[in-house]
Amino acid sequence: MSDPIRVLVTLAEHSDRQAVESALEGDPGLEVVGYAEYLDDWLAFLEQAADVVVVGCAGYSDGAAHMVDRAVKHRPDRPVVVMSETPANGFLRVAFEAGADDVITLPAKEEVRFTLEKVVTRRRGLAVPGKAAAQLVAVLGPKGGTGKTLIATNLAVALAARDANVVLVDLDLQFGDIGLALALSPERTMYDLMKAGPPFDHEKLDRHLIRHSSGVKVLIAPTRPDHASAVSIDYLRDIYASLRTMCDAVIVDTPPGFTPEVIATIDASSAVCMVGMLDSLSLKNTKLGLETLDLMGYSADNVSLVLNRADSRVGITPDDVSAIVGRVPDVFIPSDREIPRSVNEGTPIVASKDRSDAAKAFRALADLYAKPAMPTPAPLPASSNGSSGVKALIGRRR
Ligand SMILES: Nc1ncnc2c1ncn2[C@@H]1O[C@H](COP(=O)(O)OP(=O)(O)OP(=O)(O)O)[C@@H](O)[C@H]1O
Ligand SMILES: [Mg+2]
Repeated sequence: MSDPIRVLVTLAEHSDRQAVESALEGDPGLEVVGYAEYLDDWLAFLEQAADVVVVGCAGYSDGAAHMVDRAVKHRPDRPVVVMSETPANGFLRVAFEAGADDVITLPAKEEVRFTLEKVVTRRRGLAVPGKAAAQLVAVLGPKGGTGKTLIATNLAVALAARDANVVLVDLDLQFGDIGLALALSPERTMYDLMKAGPPFDHEKLDRHLIRHSSGVKVLIAPTRPDHASAVSIDYLRDIYASLRTMCDAVIVDTPPGFTPEVIATIDASSAVCMVGMLDSLSLKNTKLGLETLDLMGYSADNVSLVLNRADSRVGITPDDVSAIVGRVPDVFIPSDREIPRSVNEGTPIVASKDRSDAAKAFRALADLYAKPAMPTPAPLPASSNGSSGVKALIGRRR
């Protein structure tokens, strides 16, 4: 790294400024931009251009943990390192939960620059605002059993067949079945990734992805429903941002409904694929789902509508669908007896019966997403909790 690393130092109550100074000063690889305590204009202090924030503290205190939390939320793209005068044993978990990238115990000298360089380099390997990023497609269906998993797996495999580097995420945290649908053994799952914790660099993510024979890499859902609660929404956001810089497309299969994880996924996505079926209950929910996306401020241009089992003879025509749902479906997927068989065999129909009408429909769906990369979203504004959609939705629900 040729330019020195620019460091903003913020000091918690009772911290020893000199101890922090002597760890940082005198190294030509480091440039301290400024020191501040927790003042009224602390957020303005954090606005200054810098590569990393150091939180100096005597040891664990609520104030120090709060500083870490605020510094992380203020600029989620900038790493935060804690410098503690006492071994941070009890503090480590709190610091990392608050989003710190690393913890250094003072006095320290050699490892300081190494640690700061490491966290800055890691972050640069993650999402870089403005850098071209892969599509992230959230496959949604407000009603259960509409074919979300079928569509997510076949879409991923259809894209991989075009030499795209595809990651498929199973966000059905309690009853995810992508591992089953692709006959993959859950050696490593999202639960293990959550336990490993941040930073979610490419190497760590890659270690937790299971490779399917089609080339699709899968982040498998936790294998036990009681492990679902280990999935942190903040971590998910980091994982999506990082995945979008390491592949060409991220496809996310979701559980029915707008759970907090699904809302966070919609917020992080570049496109939504809404799945409906040819029955009046499903169509009513599809309409509600589309309206909810609209309430979330999601652009209708980035939403595609897929009608599954589109040829079922149940007295509703595709024209009726347009009238009920308010838009014409983009892709129609026929019912096919081969589909349950392909699911049972763990081989998506787009690969096993590539001449079937269903396979053609999945390739037509892939056409919609095989378009050029989208820009990574810019850093969140200071006051945002990172989920405009959550706020919009909660606001309306109340
Ligand atoms: N077009 C189709 N033709 C034949 N069978 C289908 C079709 N679409 C879905 N199925 C079958 O319906 C069942 C439900 O599909 P799938 O698991 O993809 O739905 P889902 O929306 O993911 O369900 P959940 O909400 O429970 O996650 C599966 O057994 C699948 O094989
Ligand atoms: Mg499913």
